[in-house]
Amino acid sequence: MSRLLQTGLNAGKEPLVKVVGGEGVRFILDDGRKVIDGSTTGGPLGHAHPDMVEAIHKAAENPVINEGWFWAEREKAAEDLIDIAFADEKSWVGAVRFFLSGSEANDLALTLSQAMTGRTPLATRERAYHGMAGLARQMTVQPHWHGGLAIQGGGSRPVPNPVPVRVIPAPLNAKYGVIDDKRPLAERLAGVETTLSDTAATLIDYTQGGIYYDAAYQDLVADAARKAGSLWIADEVVTGLGRSGRWFGFQGGKTRPDMVTLGKCLAGGSSPAGAVVLSKDLVAELKDKSWQTYSTFRAHPMAVSCIRAYLRVVQRDKLLARSRDIAERLEKGLMAVAQKHPSVSRMDGFGLHWTVELHGPDWRNWYADTIEPPVASRVAARALEAGAVIGTSGEQTSLFLCPPMVSTDRDIDDLLAALDHGLELADDEYARAAA
Ligand SMILES: Cc1ncc(COP(=O)(O)O)c(C=O)c1O
Repeated sequence: MSRLLQTGLNAGKEPLVKVVGGEGVRFILDDGRKVIDGSTTGGPLGHAHPDMVEAIHKAAENPVINEGWFWAEREKAAEDLIDIAFADEKSWVGAVRFFLSGSEANDLALTLSQAMTGRTPLATRERAYHGMAGLARQMTVQPHWHGGLAIQGGGSRPVPNPVPVRVIPAPLNAKYGVIDDKRPLAERLAGVETTLSDTAATLIDYTQGGIYYDAAYQDLVADAARKAGSLWIADEVVTGLGRSGRWFGFQGGKTRPDMVTLGKCLAGGSSPAGAVVLSKDLVAELKDKSWQTYSTFRAHPMAVSCIRAYLRVVQRDKLLARSRDIAERLEKGLMAVAQKHPSVSRMDGFGLHWTVELHGPDWRNWYADTIEPPVASRVAARALEAGAVIGTSGEQTSLFLCPPMVSTDRDIDDLLAALDHGLELADDEYARAAA
């Protein structure tokens, strides 16, 4: 028996895959198979990318230095991030602080908001996922992600939430399938400004729970937050730095956030890293104050070296354009897969992040407390037979795809073929349930 506490995201006791290595866009499994890593939100360049391997070698020669000391190389990483990724946001961007992960970046952006506004409550949207530490955990409002204990065989023991969290309606979109609630967005969001009126921050992400960015939603929520005096934080942990086919998801709307949080892709997936980027206005408000927080390994030499290397690779290899090309192929293929499989109820996504939702029980009642793997995990297991790892984020009836930005057309076709194969299982179950 493993001495490592279970960490799998899929319900059930057995891990879906046993990974022993990684090469390009593929995982190497313990049985020798090389399978596509099809849901790798943290691995935009796949595995063992030569530039990232070199960056890690170089990092070993750097000083072992903690966050409290000035270090020239860290300053350069901040300059690179601002000059390269925020090049089109010169009138907005103020300054960056590095963190250890997306969760930590969200937690600290939220506590900074509380300190700046003097308010305690926070706001997010329905079905959000913002991480699993500190206030980020509290803002993760999917029922099966509470940070406590799921009792396999039934029940859960969530962790108490000391901070009030207001949950506003999410945008409802579908590139395939039907949305039941046809009310205009403004009507669905009526009263949001009042809901936000005592909150320190409104944290909005662009993909989680299969709910995707939409400019109108961003601009409506941003306006309401501004009027309510709530700081708007764009959680770009998944969508920032490439996956949305542009540097940031928020660039699709007219409004600009007070803060942007980053993680996952920031260090090319080769080192843990997170960041909070503040607007110029917020930096001006911080004049004569210091942000009283510290952690030994923030902006660690490994992270700094990898951040700089990743930004260079994205720029040099024109990966945003590449990401848009792959996304077009992926979207076309996904629509064809959806039409073929009656078990698919909805598909939505953009860029290189897509969600496939199956007919079945409502997500609001899913607590990931079953011993039997749910249908999404069983579809994922069947897709693996056909050569791809597809994630479910522990969901009961949905799967998500997020291939690396360095995927070839062939890789995308192989991933779609594996999904197609996996969905046959869901079709059979759907037909049996309907009979
Ligand atoms: C939108 C979003 N925000 C924050 C996080 C937390 O990032 P991490 O798990 O790297 O701490 C995630 C992780 O999946 C995420 O999807």
